[in-house]
Amino acid sequence: MRAELPRELLPDDLQRIRASEGWRRDRVEVLETSAGPVVVKGQRPPRSVTPRRMFNWAMQAAGLATLKVPLRDGGPEAQQVEVRRLAELRAAGVRVPTLMHVEPGFFVQEYLTGPDLSRELSRGAGDRLAVWQQGVAAVQAVHSRQECLSQAFARNFIVTPEGIAAIDHEEDPLEVVSLPQAQARDWLFYLHSTLWLLPERRAEMLSVWERVVGAESRLVADFMHRLARRLAPLRHLPSQRKPWGRDIVSAQAAASFLNTWSRS
Ligand SMILES: Nc1ncnc2c1ncn2[C@@H]1O[C@H](COP(=O)(O)OP(=O)(O)O)[C@@H](O)[C@H]1O
Ligand SMILES: [Mg+2]
Repeated sequence: MRAELPRELLPDDLQRIRASEGWRRDRVEVLETSAGPVVVKGQRPPRSVTPRRMFNWAMQAAGLATLKVPLRDGGPEAQQVEVRRLAELRAAGVRVPTLMHVEPGFFVQEYLTGPDLSRELSRGAGDRLAVWQQGVAAVQAVHSRQECLSQAFARNFIVTPEGIAAIDHEEDPLEVVSLPQAQARDWLFYLHSTLWLLPERRAEMLSVWERVVGAESRLVADFMHRLARRLAPLRHLPSQRKPWGRDIVSAQAAASFLNTWSRS
């Protein structure tokens, strides 16, 4: 995203990357190279898809087919999906890291400077509602290009000085759901991972959300209403972080928000 840097890695850089332990141990490693800082993402070993098959079956049975996941976990195909999605999203004009090198076992992408959206929203300071709206606009920008994300959780958006960029494209939801379903899923993941961090100013967020849904296709709006109805019982979960923890309160916040919107 920084045009002044050469985007080519030199043979020396690649040798250092290949020899590095970091990405093998931690999966993701940031390294300095002659083309600037880069992120090396190692391939995860393939795992059984049985848990994913069972998850999909449960989602289907619960009327939540929108949340089905691709039947793939790690391995060379997962890396191929991420490399392909990075190229497709970039071609569509979506802000994603530049892909710099691919080889069996790992790929190299541009390092994006800035906190992730989850961290940015967790900070007490600044106009957090404005940051939340920037994230909303980033998802809208993806959808307006007839695209979807992989896992639109706050931690997978980087707040760079040039704007918000999306990372982590290892799953292509279009392998198992339609585009409008994948887009509805993006919104659910976005709301689920952000709302609980901003318990105040719900009324303003609801009016932003009404405008968002109004600008989406009719099908996406229908899928959102369906999700809102299916998830509505979760609004009765506790809403205090302590002692319940983030999984409970994030589900509660999203279910309650969507229920208020859907019934209005
Ligand atoms: N291009 C990037 N620029 C900056 N940080 C990145 C980049 N890609 C990944 N990261 C960091 O590495 C973490 C893990 O990468 P991610 O692609 O999300 O993999 P995972 O599938 O393990 O979640 C991210 O949460 C982020 O902190
Ligand atoms: Mg991630």
